[in-house]
Amino acid sequence: MEGERTIWWQDGLFMIDQTLLPARLEALRVKSIPQLVEAIRSLRVRGAPALGAAGGYGVALAAHRSPYGDVSGLLSEMEEAAERLRLARPTAINLSWGVDRVLAAARQGEDADEVRALALQEAEALASEDLAINRAIGKSGARLLEDGDGVLTHCNAGRLACVGWGTALGVIRQAVQDGKQIHVYACETRPLHQGSRLTCWELGADHIPVTLICDGVSGTLMRQGRIQKAIVGADRITRDAVFNKVGTYNHAVLAHAHGVPFYVAAPLSTFDPIREECDVQIEERDGDELRRMGHTQLAPCDVDVYNPAFDATPLEKVTALITEKGVFKPPLMPPL
Ligand code: MRU
Repeated sequence: MEGERTIWWQDGLFMIDQTLLPARLEALRVKSIPQLVEAIRSLRVRGAPALGAAGGYGVALAAHRSPYGDVSGLLSEMEEAAERLRLARPTAINLSWGVDRVLAAARQGEDADEVRALALQEAEALASEDLAINRAIGKSGARLLEDGDGVLTHCNAGRLACVGWGTALGVIRQAVQDGKQIHVYACETRPLHQGSRLTCWELGADHIPVTLICDGVSGTLMRQGRIQKAIVGADRITRDAVFNKVGTYNHAVLAHAHGVPFYVAAPLSTFDPIREECDVQIEERDGDELRRMGHTQLAPCDVDVYNPAFDATPLEKVTALITEKGVFKPPLMPPL
Protein backbone atom coordinates (compact mmCIF):
# COMPACT_ATOMS: atom_id res chain seq x y z
CA MET A 1 0.00 0.00 0.00
CA GLU A 2 1.14 3.56 -0.73
CA GLY A 3 1.95 4.96 2.73
CA GLU A 4 -1.17 5.96 4.60
CA ARG A 5 -3.25 6.58 1.49
CA THR A 6 -6.32 4.54 0.64
CA ILE A 7 -6.40 5.72 -2.99
CA TRP A 8 -3.36 6.76 -5.01
CA TRP A 9 -1.79 7.10 -8.46
CA GLN A 10 1.35 5.17 -9.36
CA ASP A 11 1.51 4.89 -13.15
CA GLY A 12 -2.22 4.21 -12.83
CA LEU A 13 -5.05 4.34 -10.31
CA PHE A 14 -4.97 2.15 -7.19
CA MET A 15 -7.25 1.88 -4.19
CA ILE A 16 -7.79 -0.35 -1.19
CA ASP A 17 -10.68 -2.69 -2.06
CA GLN A 18 -12.85 -2.02 1.01
CA THR A 19 -15.26 -4.87 0.24
CA LEU A 20 -12.53 -7.37 1.19
CA LEU A 21 -11.91 -5.93 4.68
CA PRO A 22 -11.46 -6.97 7.40
CA ALA A 23 -10.46 -10.40 6.02
CA ARG A 24 -7.99 -9.12 3.43
CA LEU A 25 -6.14 -5.84 2.85
CA GLU A 26 -5.62 -5.71 -0.90
CA ALA A 27 -5.03 -3.01 -3.46
CA LEU A 28 -7.11 -2.92 -6.61
CA ARG A 29 -5.81 -1.45 -9.86
CA VAL A 30 -8.56 0.39 -11.71
CA LYS A 31 -7.97 0.45 -15.45
CA SER A 32 -11.15 1.89 -16.94
CA ILE A 33 -14.12 4.15 -16.23
CA PRO A 34 -16.66 1.25 -16.23
CA GLN A 35 -14.45 -0.52 -13.67
CA LEU A 36 -14.28 2.62 -11.55
CA VAL A 37 -18.06 3.12 -11.73
CA GLU A 38 -18.47 -0.50 -10.60
CA ALA A 39 -15.97 0.07 -7.76
CA ILE A 40 -17.95 3.12 -6.58
CA ARG A 41 -21.37 1.43 -6.84
CA SER A 42 -20.23 -1.71 -5.04
CA LEU A 43 -18.45 0.33 -2.32
CA ARG A 44 -14.93 -0.93 -3.08
CA VAL A 45 -14.20 2.77 -2.62
CA ARG A 46 -16.64 4.61 -0.38
CA GLY A 47 -16.98 7.45 2.10
CA ALA A 48 -17.54 11.01 0.91
CA PRO A 49 -13.94 12.35 0.82
CA ALA A 50 -12.60 9.12 -0.75
CA LEU A 51 -15.32 9.42 -3.40
CA GLY A 52 -14.15 12.99 -4.08
CA ALA A 53 -10.63 11.66 -4.72
CA ALA A 54 -11.98 8.75 -6.79
CA GLY A 55 -13.99 11.19 -8.94
CA GLY A 56 -10.95 13.42 -9.45
CA TYR A 57 -8.62 10.53 -10.29
CA GLY A 58 -11.35 9.09 -12.52
CA VAL A 59 -11.25 12.17 -14.75
CA ALA A 60 -7.44 11.87 -14.88
CA LEU A 61 -7.81 8.18 -15.75
CA ALA A 62 -10.20 9.00 -18.59
CA ALA A 63 -7.69 11.53 -19.91
CA HIS A 64 -4.79 9.10 -19.73
CA ARG A 65 -6.67 6.27 -21.43
CA SER A 66 -8.06 8.38 -24.24
CA PRO A 67 -6.37 7.98 -27.64
CA TYR A 68 -7.38 11.49 -28.77
CA GLY A 69 -4.56 13.81 -29.81
CA ASP A 70 -6.75 16.89 -30.13
CA VAL A 71 -8.06 18.90 -27.17
CA SER A 72 -11.73 18.94 -28.17
CA GLY A 73 -11.95 15.15 -28.74
CA LEU A 74 -10.09 14.48 -25.51
CA LEU A 75 -12.21 16.88 -23.45
CA SER A 76 -15.47 15.49 -24.81
CA GLU A 77 -14.38 11.96 -23.85
CA MET A 78 -13.42 13.24 -20.38
CA GLU A 79 -16.79 14.98 -20.02
CA GLU A 80 -18.62 11.78 -20.92
CA ALA A 81 -16.59 9.89 -18.29
CA ALA A 82 -17.25 12.69 -15.78
CA GLU A 83 -21.00 12.34 -16.24
CA ARG A 84 -20.88 8.57 -15.70
CA LEU A 85 -18.84 9.09 -12.53
CA ARG A 86 -21.15 11.81 -11.15
CA LEU A 87 -24.15 9.50 -11.58
CA ALA A 88 -22.49 6.46 -9.95
CA ARG A 89 -23.74 7.47 -6.48
CA PRO A 90 -25.93 10.55 -6.06
CA THR A 91 -25.90 11.48 -2.35
CA ALA A 92 -22.30 12.33 -1.39
CA ILE A 93 -21.61 15.71 -2.96
CA ASN A 94 -17.86 15.13 -2.84
CA LEU A 95 -18.03 12.79 -5.84
CA SER A 96 -19.31 15.43 -8.27
CA TRP A 97 -17.19 18.08 -6.53
CA GLY A 98 -14.00 16.04 -7.21
CA VAL A 99 -15.01 15.32 -10.81
CA ASP A 100 -15.84 18.97 -11.54
CA ARG A 101 -12.70 20.33 -9.90
CA VAL A 102 -10.36 18.15 -11.98
CA LEU A 103 -12.33 18.73 -15.18
CA ALA A 104 -12.16 22.51 -14.67
CA ALA A 105 -8.37 22.36 -14.20
CA ALA A 106 -7.90 20.14 -17.27
CA ARG A 107 -9.90 22.54 -19.46
CA GLN A 108 -7.08 25.09 -19.04
CA GLY A 109 -4.74 22.89 -21.09
CA GLU A 110 -3.78 24.15 -24.55
CA ASP A 111 -2.90 20.80 -26.06
CA ALA A 112 -3.81 17.19 -25.28
CA ASP A 113 -0.60 16.49 -23.34
CA GLU A 114 -1.19 19.53 -21.17
CA VAL A 115 -4.82 18.55 -20.56
CA ARG A 116 -3.67 15.12 -19.36
CA ALA A 117 -0.91 16.58 -17.16
CA LEU A 118 -3.22 19.17 -15.59
CA ALA A 119 -5.90 16.56 -14.86
CA LEU A 120 -3.47 14.33 -13.00
CA GLN A 121 -1.81 17.26 -11.23
CA GLU A 122 -5.19 18.49 -9.94
CA ALA A 123 -6.30 15.01 -8.85
CA GLU A 124 -3.03 14.61 -6.92
CA ALA A 125 -3.46 18.06 -5.34
CA LEU A 126 -7.01 17.21 -4.29
CA ALA A 127 -5.83 13.94 -2.69
CA SER A 128 -2.96 15.62 -0.81
CA GLU A 129 -5.27 18.40 0.39
CA ASP A 130 -7.72 15.80 1.71
CA LEU A 131 -5.04 14.47 4.06
CA ALA A 132 -4.13 17.97 5.30
CA ILE A 133 -7.80 18.96 5.71
CA ASN A 134 -8.57 15.86 7.76
CA ARG A 135 -5.64 16.62 10.05
CA ALA A 136 -7.05 20.12 10.51
CA ILE A 137 -10.54 18.73 11.24
CA GLY A 138 -8.96 16.46 13.85
CA LYS A 139 -7.23 19.40 15.50
CA SER A 140 -10.45 21.50 15.46
CA GLY A 141 -12.49 18.73 17.04
CA ALA A 142 -10.16 16.97 19.47
CA ARG A 143 -10.68 19.62 22.15
CA LEU A 144 -14.38 18.69 22.26
CA LEU A 145 -13.50 15.20 23.54
CA GLU A 146 -12.53 14.75 27.17
CA ASP A 147 -10.28 12.24 28.84
CA GLY A 148 -12.37 9.17 29.70
CA ASP A 149 -15.15 9.81 27.14
CA GLY A 150 -17.17 7.00 25.61
CA VAL A 151 -17.76 8.08 22.00
CA LEU A 152 -20.43 6.69 19.69
CA THR A 153 -19.80 6.57 15.95
CA HIS A 154 -21.83 5.23 13.04
CA CYS A 155 -20.63 3.83 9.71
CA ASN A 156 -16.99 4.52 8.84
CA ALA A 157 -15.74 8.10 8.74
CA GLY A 158 -12.15 7.03 9.15
CA ARG A 159 -9.07 6.87 6.97
CA LEU A 160 -10.76 4.34 4.69
CA ALA A 161 -13.53 6.85 3.95
CA CYS A 162 -10.95 9.48 3.00
CA VAL A 163 -7.54 9.59 1.35
CA GLY A 164 -6.21 9.20 4.88
CA TRP A 165 -6.59 9.97 8.62
CA GLY A 166 -10.39 10.35 8.64
CA THR A 167 -12.94 12.96 9.64
CA ALA A 168 -14.91 11.68 12.67
CA LEU A 169 -12.24 9.06 13.43
CA GLY A 170 -9.59 11.71 12.73
CA VAL A 171 -11.00 13.74 15.63
CA ILE A 172 -10.84 10.64 17.84
CA ARG A 173 -7.29 9.81 16.60
CA GLN A 174 -6.15 13.35 17.42
CA ALA A 175 -7.70 13.25 20.90
CA VAL A 176 -5.92 9.94 21.56
CA GLN A 177 -2.66 11.40 20.24
CA ASP A 178 -3.17 14.30 22.67
CA GLY A 179 -3.10 11.77 25.50
CA LYS A 180 -6.84 11.33 26.17
CA GLN A 181 -8.35 7.94 26.94
CA ILE A 182 -11.24 7.49 24.53
CA HIS A 183 -13.43 4.40 24.24
CA VAL A 184 -15.26 4.13 20.93
CA TYR A 185 -18.63 2.42 20.52
CA ALA A 186 -18.87 1.49 16.83
CA CYS A 187 -22.32 0.73 15.44
CA GLU A 188 -22.20 -2.25 13.09
CA THR A 189 -24.05 -0.16 10.45
CA ARG A 190 -26.45 -2.48 8.73
CA PRO A 191 -26.86 -3.62 6.07
CA LEU A 192 -23.29 -3.35 4.69
CA HIS A 193 -21.45 -3.29 8.02
CA GLN A 194 -19.05 -0.41 7.44
CA GLY A 195 -18.86 -0.06 11.24
CA SER A 196 -18.00 -3.64 12.10
CA ARG A 197 -15.88 -4.36 9.03
CA LEU A 198 -14.05 -1.06 8.60
CA THR A 199 -14.24 1.15 11.72
CA CYS A 200 -13.39 -1.72 14.08
CA TRP A 201 -10.56 -2.84 11.80
CA GLU A 202 -9.10 0.67 11.54
CA LEU A 203 -9.31 1.46 15.24
CA GLY A 204 -7.94 -1.96 16.15
CA ALA A 205 -4.94 -1.35 13.89
CA ASP A 206 -4.31 1.90 15.80
CA HIS A 207 -4.85 0.24 19.21
CA ILE A 208 -7.76 2.58 20.01
CA PRO A 209 -10.21 0.77 22.33
CA VAL A 210 -13.44 -0.05 20.48
CA THR A 211 -16.59 -1.97 21.32
CA LEU A 212 -18.82 -3.14 18.49
CA ILE A 213 -22.56 -2.71 19.05
CA CYS A 214 -25.75 -3.41 17.11
CA ASP A 215 -27.16 -0.20 15.66
CA GLY A 216 -30.12 -0.39 18.05
CA VAL A 217 -27.99 -0.38 21.21
CA SER A 218 -26.95 3.29 21.16
CA GLY A 219 -29.97 4.52 23.16
CA THR A 220 -29.44 1.95 25.89
CA LEU A 221 -25.78 2.94 26.24
CA MET A 222 -26.71 6.63 26.45
CA ARG A 223 -29.28 5.84 29.13
CA GLN A 224 -26.64 3.92 31.05
CA GLY A 225 -24.31 6.94 30.90
CA ARG A 226 -21.67 5.10 28.90
CA ILE A 227 -21.67 7.48 25.94
CA GLN A 228 -20.57 11.08 26.54
CA LYS A 229 -20.30 12.21 22.90
CA ALA A 230 -21.47 11.06 19.48
CA ILE A 231 -19.48 11.90 16.35
CA VAL A 232 -20.18 10.99 12.74
CA GLY A 233 -19.11 12.06 9.26
CA ALA A 234 -21.33 13.42 6.48
CA ASP A 235 -22.03 12.83 2.82
CA ARG A 236 -23.63 16.23 2.26
CA ILE A 237 -24.57 19.16 4.49
CA THR A 238 -27.33 21.35 3.11
CA ARG A 239 -28.71 24.58 4.61
CA ASP A 240 -30.97 22.56 6.92
CA ALA A 241 -29.71 18.98 7.28
CA VAL A 242 -26.82 16.56 7.47
CA PHE A 243 -26.97 13.56 5.14
CA ASN A 244 -25.07 10.56 6.42
CA LYS A 245 -25.33 6.76 6.57
CA VAL A 246 -28.86 5.59 7.31
CA GLY A 247 -29.31 5.26 11.08
CA THR A 248 -27.51 8.53 11.85
CA TYR A 249 -30.83 10.31 12.41
CA ASN A 250 -31.88 7.74 15.04
CA HIS A 251 -28.64 8.28 16.97
CA ALA A 252 -29.03 12.07 16.73
CA VAL A 253 -32.57 11.97 18.13
CA LEU A 254 -31.46 9.67 20.94
CA ALA A 255 -28.46 11.87 21.70
CA HIS A 256 -30.74 14.91 21.85
CA ALA A 257 -33.13 13.09 24.21
CA HIS A 258 -30.28 12.06 26.52
CA GLY A 259 -28.36 15.35 26.48
CA VAL A 260 -25.40 13.79 24.66
CA PRO A 261 -23.57 16.23 22.32
CA PHE A 262 -23.93 15.12 18.70
CA TYR A 263 -21.06 16.22 16.43
CA VAL A 264 -20.63 16.02 12.67
CA ALA A 265 -17.08 16.20 11.28
CA ALA A 266 -16.73 17.07 7.60
CA PRO A 267 -14.60 19.08 5.17
CA LEU A 268 -15.99 22.21 3.50
CA SER A 269 -16.22 20.21 0.25
CA THR A 270 -19.14 18.29 1.82
CA PHE A 271 -21.22 21.46 2.29
CA ASP A 272 -23.96 22.23 -0.23
CA PRO A 273 -25.28 25.62 0.89
CA ILE A 274 -27.47 26.20 -2.17
CA ARG A 275 -29.66 23.16 -1.42
CA GLU A 276 -32.15 22.07 1.23
CA GLU A 277 -33.04 18.60 2.40
CA CYS A 278 -35.89 18.27 -0.09
CA ASP A 279 -33.54 18.88 -3.06
CA VAL A 280 -31.25 15.93 -2.33
CA GLN A 281 -31.62 12.47 -3.80
CA ILE A 282 -31.06 9.70 -1.28
CA GLU A 283 -29.60 6.62 -2.96
CA GLU A 284 -31.79 3.52 -2.68
CA ARG A 285 -29.92 0.26 -2.88
CA ASP A 286 -30.79 -3.29 -3.88
CA GLY A 287 -33.16 -5.15 -1.55
CA ASP A 288 -30.89 -8.19 -1.64
CA GLU A 289 -28.52 -6.31 0.72
CA LEU A 290 -31.18 -7.07 3.38
CA ARG A 291 -32.54 -10.34 2.02
CA ARG A 292 -29.21 -12.12 1.79
CA MET A 293 -25.78 -12.19 3.40
CA GLY A 294 -23.42 -13.84 0.94
CA HIS A 295 -25.02 -17.18 0.19
CA THR A 296 -27.22 -17.11 3.31
CA GLN A 297 -30.88 -16.22 2.91
CA LEU A 298 -31.92 -13.73 5.66
CA ALA A 299 -35.49 -13.03 4.51
CA PRO A 300 -38.05 -14.45 2.11
CA CYS A 301 -36.68 -14.03 -1.42
CA ASP A 302 -39.71 -12.01 -2.51
CA VAL A 303 -40.19 -9.77 0.56
CA ASP A 304 -40.60 -6.07 -0.23
CA VAL A 305 -37.56 -4.07 0.96
CA TYR A 306 -36.93 -0.36 1.51
CA ASN A 307 -33.17 0.20 1.57
CA PRO A 308 -32.10 3.87 1.58
CA ALA A 309 -28.32 4.21 1.97
CA PHE A 310 -28.51 7.53 3.82
CA ASP A 311 -30.81 9.63 5.99
CA ALA A 312 -31.13 13.32 6.80
CA THR A 313 -30.66 14.75 10.29
CA PRO A 314 -32.08 18.26 10.76
CA LEU A 315 -29.39 20.71 11.86
CA GLU A 316 -31.35 21.45 15.08
CA LYS A 317 -30.26 18.00 16.28
CA VAL A 318 -26.56 18.72 15.61
CA THR A 319 -24.57 20.25 18.47
CA ALA A 320 -21.70 21.38 16.24
CA LEU A 321 -20.14 20.95 12.81
CA ILE A 322 -16.42 20.27 12.98
CA THR A 323 -14.53 21.49 9.90
CA GLU A 324 -10.99 22.39 8.85
CA LYS A 325 -11.97 26.03 9.48
CA GLY A 326 -13.09 25.41 13.05
CA VAL A 327 -16.20 24.39 14.95
CA PHE A 328 -19.61 25.88 14.08
CA LYS A 329 -22.77 25.57 16.13
CA PRO A 330 -25.86 25.53 13.87
CA PRO A 331 -27.49 27.70 12.70
CA LEU A 332 -23.99 29.14 12.32
CA MET A 333 -22.31 27.68 9.22
CA PRO A 334 -18.70 27.90 8.04
CA PRO A 335 -17.88 30.61 5.48
CA LEU A 336 -17.94 28.92 2.07
O1 MRU B 1 -22.35 4.12 1.81
P1 MRU B 1 -21.04 4.65 2.34
O2 MRU B 1 -20.24 3.62 3.06
O3 MRU B 1 -20.25 5.37 1.28
O4 MRU B 1 -21.47 5.75 3.41
C1 MRU B 1 -20.47 6.51 3.99
C2 MRU B 1 -20.95 7.38 5.10
O5 MRU B 1 -22.11 7.53 5.33
C3 MRU B 1 -19.89 8.14 5.84
O6 MRU B 1 -20.28 8.34 7.16
C4 MRU B 1 -19.68 9.50 5.17
O7 MRU B 1 -19.35 9.33 3.82
C5 MRU B 1 -18.62 10.29 5.81
S1 MRU B 1 -17.03 9.64 5.50
C6 MRU B 1 -15.86 10.66 6.14
